[in-house]
Amino acid sequence: MRLHVADHPLITHKLSVLRDERTSSQQFRSLVEELVTLLSYEATRDVRTESYELQTPVAKTTGLRMTDPVPLVVPIIRAGLGMLDGFLKLVPNVEVGFLGMRRNEETLQPETYAKRLPENLANRQCFALDPMLATGGSLVAAIDFLFDAGAVDVTAICIVASPEGIERMREAFADRNVTVVVGALDEGLNEDGFIVPGLGDAGDRLYGVA
Ligand code: PRP
Repeated sequence: MRLHVADHPLITHKLSVLRDERTSSQQFRSLVEELVTLLSYEATRDVRTESYELQTPVAKTTGLRMTDPVPLVVPIIRAGLGMLDGFLKLVPNVEVGFLGMRRNEETLQPETYAKRLPENLANRQCFALDPMLATGGSLVAAIDFLFDAGAVDVTAICIVASPEGIERMREAFADRNVTVVVGALDEGLNEDGFIVPGLGDAGDRLYGVA
């Protein structure tokens, strides 16, 4: 597993406003979208491409295009849905799968309540979207679903992560082709399993319902 912390000043600036408890839901949603577009730029550095010949108004040249099959992007519902538009803005020609996961607030274990993925992901490049990587339980389970369906290569995009969550991902995917792109690596988890300093509960802040 590889970790990439995208600590670009624009990302850190937007993330600071996102963390602020005074930021409204409306502003939170548009900041998430902007941040994901920036993180997706980093996360798609290894997107599969092929070259092809084209004619400009002046001369022949070699261009580059994404190869078939197009990548699959999987937002982890609920909070990951807030990241989908930002990703699609940058990479419109993808397919979208869905995983609904909820972390049990007492046990901190992930529970899956929805799954809509193509049956066979063999040879597909996959991107998973979830703003928070806390204990790592949800993301590990989500990526396991993708590998079980045949994926060989998964990139997760998270806005903030804890060192504990990253460690859990490293243990789970030591020998797998997994990349995690994060906007910030925070200090750790508190006794309730929340990322510190973090940004609170991203799902609640995006959609306003507990
Ligand atoms: C949050 C977050 C992740 C998960 C992270 O979702 O969006 O999916 O918790 O925690 P973990 O790394 O310890 O598994 P939550 O369960 O609050 O659901 P929601 O997206 O519906 O708000």
